Amino acid sequence: MTQPAVPAPPDVAVVGAGAVGATIAYTALVRGSARRVALHDIDRGKLEAEVLDISHGLSFTPMGSIEGSDDVEVCRGARVVVVTAGAKQKPGQTRMDLAASTVALTRSIMPRLLEVAPDAVYVMVTNPVDVVTTAALRLTGLPPQQLFGSGTVLDSSRLRHAIATRVGVAVQNVHAYVVGEHGDTEFPLWSSASLGGVPIRDWSRMHGGALDEQARAQIADEVVNAAYRIIAGKGATNYAVALACCQIVESVLRDERRVLPVSTMLEGEYGVDGVCLSVPTVVGAGGAIERLSVPMSDAEQEQLRRSASSIRATAEQVGV
Ligand SMILES: NC(=O)c1ccc[n+]([C@@H]2O[C@H](COP(=O)([O-])OP(=O)(O)OC[C@H]3O[C@@H](n4cnc5c(N)ncnc54)[C@H](O)[C@@H]3O)[C@@H](O)[C@H]2O)c1
Repeated sequence: MTQPAVPAPPDVAVVGAGAVGATIAYTALVRGSARRVALHDIDRGKLEAEVLDISHGLSFTPMGSIEGSDDVEVCRGARVVVVTAGAKQKPGQTRMDLAASTVALTRSIMPRLLEVAPDAVYVMVTNPVDVVTTAALRLTGLPPQQLFGSGTVLDSSRLRHAIATRVGVAVQNVHAYVVGEHGDTEFPLWSSASLGGVPIRDWSRMHGGALDEQARAQIADEVVNAAYRIIAGKGATNYAVALACCQIVESVLRDERRVLPVSTMLEGEYGVDGVCLSVPTVVGAGGAIERLSVPMSDAEQEQLRRSASSIRATAEQVGV
């Protein structure tokens, strides 16, 4: 007689089953990013409902399973842990306003997670993600490759979408990164952005000023304010961030070595030291393996340092 399958450790454990965490778990199963997904939240009623709802769709997804619990044990042995636990950003509230409560939460959950999944690659998503990642690294003492933030992976996808829709090319052929803080001081790296191999500034010249300085400023503004707009309309952002996180998870689980702007602890690059922020980074089985030295104009380097100062100021205010 067939016996029930013996539970194996999860490929990915998602901590927090709110709008973001539940959608990451769902997306990971729909995309086949992970075979076994664990979901953990302290709100048992919400957690059980999310797990049931996702489970009922498993006959339509690639082979996969989901297990949920309000006990952190459900994360034991996970290869990747994605941390989304925290309070939701309220309309009008900046990500930095959330800092104090989220850092306190991070301090309480990380030691317990490390006990059950000491070898996992940790992807921090909770905002303000750069401060939370800096705090989690200092607290855990994990190697900086093993713990990083989802950073501006989502924002870079928003940027690519904004450029692609304006010029009428496929979003997949736009190469452009948003760097710095995941938040108000982030900015696009226009000097290295390209469309099908054509630098954006050359494209603009060849297309009668499309993507000129004014259009680029408008796009940058749309990207920085995208989350506020979505939160004002529906209370949370969940779909695109879940896809961005699943891309990170896949790159780790399959050692894909994608170049993704995740948030890592800089060590003097671009004149920034001792604070986490996003620059293009190779992500694979070892985590955030290598930060790339992307050419930046003097103005972009200055913007990056300003972004770092903003993150550092908030980190210091909340005792990180
Ligand atoms: N980095 C990004 O790109 C990005 C994008 C969107 C949202 N976020 C952030 O993700 C976080 C989650 O957003 P959301 O919309 O899912 O919020 P939410 O309020 O819907 O969900 C948060 C969940 O965390 C749970 N939780 C609280 N304390 C916990 C604990 N100690 N252990 C386990 N679970 C706990 C809550 O019960 C809740 O279900 C927020 O900080 C938000 O700002 C980040």
